[in-house]
Amino acid sequence: MQNFNNMKHFINLKDISAKDLRKILVDAKKRKADRKNLNHLQTDKGAPLKGKLLIQMFEKSSLRTRLSFYLAIKQLGGGTLTLRSNELHLGEGGESIADTAKILSTYGNGFMLRTDSDLKIENFKKYMTIPIINGLSPFSHPTQILSDIFTVEEIKNKPISKLNIAWIGDSNNVLNSLISASVKFNFKLSIGCPKNYQPNKSLLSWAKKTNKKIYIYHDSKKAVFNADVIFSDKVISLNDKVNKKKKLSDFKKFRITQKLISYAKKDCSFLHCLPRGNEVDEKVFFSKKSKVWQQALNRVHVQKSILLYCFGKLR
Ligand code: CP
Ligand code: NVA
Repeated sequence: MQNFNNMKHFINLKDISAKDLRKILVDAKKRKADRKNLNHLQTDKGAPLKGKLLIQMFEKSSLRTRLSFYLAIKQLGGGTLTLRSNELHLGEGGESIADTAKILSTYGNGFMLRTDSDLKIENFKKYMTIPIINGLSPFSHPTQILSDIFTVEEIKNKPISKLNIAWIGDSNNVLNSLISASVKFNFKLSIGCPKNYQPNKSLLSWAKKTNKKIYIYHDSKKAVFNADVIFSDKVISLNDKVNKKKKLSDFKKFRITQKLISYAKKDCSFLHCLPRGNEVDEKVFFSKKSKVWQQALNRVHVQKSILLYCFGKLR
């Protein structure tokens, strides 16, 4: 069985050092610039992950995460195999996490998991001897947000610590990762959400100990006031077990409209991890302020550097 000395898991941003997160972004910027003239399937110089296999497993739907990890490992010289958990014995309840983890660690070099259970990631971690990457869980979506920090700095050409970031929407996995990132990258974060949808209490109290620039508003105009970048996400997340009609109606005043963004800075940008629902007006979504396609494609670049970090090969 393999065991990388320098291998690292990538599960929650809050548990990764600010120094390592910055190193990942620096590497991604350089790699992106270096392959400007290459096609999607052409390999980066030196093929640093030549021969490596990333096994991806999805317990929930995915378009962007699946494609971006596919291209990411390919461009580093390796390949992927994508599994759906219901096709494994594990998914049918006929095999333990421990045994599944041992097999994955024998056949693969890295494991990316999208799951409905943070506990499952922790259990896999106990038994894996290869790096595990959280490709979205109920608690967090770390690869998305690290990539979004990259996009913000690319668009604004400034460190994110000098910018006002606003989040309008549900207190979900993506927001949790954004809160964690605000601590690691030290930026001002203004959250706009309805009273009954407050961010995760323990995460917030952890974050506020270090970042004194986190604000929560129940008025969306106040939250976007003077913002450089406005983030949003679907009101109803994958497998969200709520009364959908009620939740959508509770978020009525938290729609991103042209009127709302007129309270932000004139040159503010709009980001959304996608897929989208009705939380953003089409006029905003298709406006010049919206950088969602650039945001989506950047995931390839940042995930390459996340993979290198996990494999202990970050330059
Ligand atoms: N943003 C994101 O993670 O998209 P997918 O659910 O399509 O992977
Ligand atoms: N919060 C969303 C993000 C999708 C990429 C979800 O969990 O469904």
